[in-house]
Amino acid sequence: MKAYNVAIVGATGLVGQEFIKVLEQRTFPMASVHLYASDRSAGKKLFVGHQEITVKETSPESFQHIDIALFSAGAEISHYFSPIAARSGTLVIDNSAAFRMESKVPLVVPEVNPEDIKWHEGIIANPNCSTIQAVVALYPLHKVNPMKRIIISTYQAVSGTGSAAMEELTTQAKLVLEGQNVIPHVYPHQIAFNLLPEIDVFLDNGYTKEEWKMVEETRKIMHAEDIAISATCVRVPVFIGHSEAIHIEFTHPMTPEEARGILAHAPGVKVLDDPNVSLYPQPWLAAGSDDVFVGRIRADASHPNGLAMWVVADNLRKGAALNAVQIAEEAAQRDWVKTQS
Ligand SMILES: NC(=O)c1ccc[n+]([C@@H]2O[C@H](COP(=O)([O-])OP(=O)(O)OC[C@H]3O[C@@H](n4cnc5c(N)ncnc54)[C@H](OP(=O)(O)O)[C@@H]3O)[C@@H](O)[C@H]2O)c1
Repeated sequence: MKAYNVAIVGATGLVGQEFIKVLEQRTFPMASVHLYASDRSAGKKLFVGHQEITVKETSPESFQHIDIALFSAGAEISHYFSPIAARSGTLVIDNSAAFRMESKVPLVVPEVNPEDIKWHEGIIANPNCSTIQAVVALYPLHKVNPMKRIIISTYQAVSGTGSAAMEELTTQAKLVLEGQNVIPHVYPHQIAFNLLPEIDVFLDNGYTKEEWKMVEETRKIMHAEDIAISATCVRVPVFIGHSEAIHIEFTHPMTPEEARGILAHAPGVKVLDDPNVSLYPQPWLAAGSDDVFVGRIRADASHPNGLAMWVVADNLRKGAALNAVQIAEEAAQRDWVKTQS
């Protein structure tokens, strides 16, 4: 089996750290691994397996001889460095929103549209974390009974904003419990013991960018331009694990039993659904796990073709690092990665 020269850009961040874990855990075939971040982290040492590696500042030269670069350093860095890397023959798998809706860039969730990897021109986009877990649960049902309308409400963990937000929740929670005032830095308002229906910027249509990403990305990944989709995305004081209440209108009725049966055999999905014993997905149970957990599957009483469900996953793993590494695995298995050496 071929082994690849791999680079992680944003290696010191939450997703970058998860990349290192996932690559190790899945024994991705690596000939070498190179860690990049900003100048602030240059010289820092991180372990990949037993190998101690020095983090370097990202530069246009970082990608020479790199076969696969996993980017998790934000959209601005991706915008600048990804085309440079792609031009030097590196396959870029980008976690940011920089290229997701570009027509020449595949947007991939391997359980749904792995064949889209084939038409990449050097950059493949990893979808938004809340979109990934939604489509893993939606697509197996959509294949059997096409969906006409989807309404999603999310409850998103602070780790989705990065390491500074994790610290902010810890600090604020302590201050609130001590009866002290909180001054928000990362979010516009206090996040501890609160909810914020604002993720990313507001758009002219009244949605936030996060909500609109869910609409557009879901359609692109599922190749289903006609599905009507609406989303409300809410930041909640949970460290890891995004949760979603999803209401679906199908072309024909689908019983909860049929949906449970389909999802029980769907790739990447684990059904946890027994109200009699309060069994349903929860973020703290999903944290650290690779699966997308689905429960509370029930008929939507408001529509004869309706179904409702509750979907939870680890946003740093399936919502980010794991999905990107699975894309790299698919590309490697199908020999769709050019090697440089
Ligand atoms: N967190 C999630 O659940 C999630 C899910 C899907 C996608 N994403 C995306 O993944 C990206 C990173 O998220 P994160 O949660 O890991 O954020 P994070 O914890 O804040 O980490 C940011 C990373 O970017 C690096 N970086 C910052 N400025 C840089 C520069 N000028 N040059 C090179 N590297 C630079 C940082 O390096 P320093 O340590 O040197 O500052 C750090 O390694 C974002 O695009 C985010 O939208 C995140």
